Amino acid sequence: MKVTKAIFPVAGLGTRFLPATKANPKEMMPIVDKPLIQYAVEDAIAAGITELIFVTSSSKRAIEDHFDSNFELESNLLERGKFDLLEIVRSILPNGVSCAYVRQKSPRGLGHAVLCAQQLISNEPFAVVLADDLIDGGKKTCLQQMMDVFQETQSSVIAVEKILPLASKKYGIVDVIPTQNRLMPIRGIVEKPHPDQAPSNFGVVGRYILTPAIFPLLQNTTVGSNNEIQLTDAIAALLTTESINALQFSGIRYDCGSKLDYLRATIAYALKHPELATDFSLLLREFAECIV
Ligand code: UTP
Repeated sequence: MKVTKAIFPVAGLGTRFLPATKANPKEMMPIVDKPLIQYAVEDAIAAGITELIFVTSSSKRAIEDHFDSNFELESNLLERGKFDLLEIVRSILPNGVSCAYVRQKSPRGLGHAVLCAQQLISNEPFAVVLADDLIDGGKKTCLQQMMDVFQETQSSVIAVEKILPLASKKYGIVDVIPTQNRLMPIRGIVEKPHPDQAPSNFGVVGRYILTPAIFPLLQNTTVGSNNEIQLTDAIAALLTTESINALQFSGIRYDCGSKLDYLRATIAYALKHPELATDFSLLLREFAECIV
């Protein structure tokens, strides 16, 4: 089966970025000149996704507007002959890609957000993409790498990366059967364990390909860590009936939900931005000279 739909849960409160996220969605924060959600959507489209399903909330209307056409802006750019900018605005969503929006009434957790999109997914596998995990996969995006695995295995795939043992309380942590390559069968998964209880140092990052068997399990998942309905807990239940693989993807991931990694991403992307790279590296050198 081919995966053509992706769920983008964007209904969280983004409390780590307050006050910036009081009225503006965290997922609309820019890395240089593009919002995080657009990078996530580009990752998905490169992997063959054609139906984008956003799980939003009342404070996230800007996301809907970003992927809609803006007649006033477009005609203004056209009148002024700003064709390059017009192209940037018009190509945000390529032809053949559609968007659907569903509301999560209150932020009850990632598992609950995914469940809110159930009616838009028929009995088919789908991707889940978290925009605050910005991943520079190089030649192949993270989701493309995962799609390759799914095509071969037809089983759920979860992206993981090695984390520092002390950081386990921030991640879902997988228990894997070690292999000689980056693909490892999962035998257990636990949300935000204490470092002493973490089954490995592989943390789950925000890219999943899941089979639809997850939905009935999500319906039966009760609140877990942080008092939220955790996707991790439903994945643990799915493991009793289906095999699931962890993929240690190639690439660099930036946790843009955290301020420090958001700044790291901004620097990395500015240093490779065609208009900014040269001047920005000079600027960074100036700053570096001031730091003792
Ligand atoms: P996070 O836990 O990283 O985001 O969820 P958050 O809750 O918005 O941020 P903080 O921790 O308060 O700063 C990962 C993704 O899941 C979405 C978020 O919008 C984010 O993109 N999410 C989370 C939902 O859509 N609904 C939820 O109930 C929780």
